[in-house]
Amino acid sequence: MGPTTDIPIGNIDAFPIGKMHIVQAGGFEIGVVRHDDDSFHAIRNRCPHKGAPLCQGSFGGTMLPSAPSELHYGLEQTVVRCPWHGYEFDLATGQGLFSNQTMRVRTFPVSVRDGIAWLTGLPAPARQRDDAA
Ligand code: FES
Repeated sequence: MGPTTDIPIGNIDAFPIGKMHIVQAGGFEIGVVRHDDDSFHAIRNRCPHKGAPLCQGSFGGTMLPSAPSELHYGLEQTVVRCPWHGYEFDLATGQGLFSNQTMRVRTFPVSVRDGIAWLTGLPAPARQRDDAA
């Protein structure tokens, strides 16, 4: 892996709690979610199946595997569902859920410093990589 950079994406108050918020950073379109404890998750806005804008799908929980005649809803606030074909992905890891376990979406760490949210570990721009050499 080459040099990386951190990119500020805004004051944390600009991110409504529990809602998907799309930002552009480091050449990616990224869906960012702020949780009620002011932690964040960020996931690329591109489905690995056929390229849909993943983060325009629903965000919430999902039906869990369960015994016949039982219905269990869970994983609230951790599942992104693709708007095109309904594949579901774990917001924190990008891993496909259940039958889509071989697919994965890129995720990005987010840190908060002095009230500002930062995407961390993004590939550094080419000019910055040249400066580091
Ligand atoms: S493009 Fe996302 S599930 Fe098909």
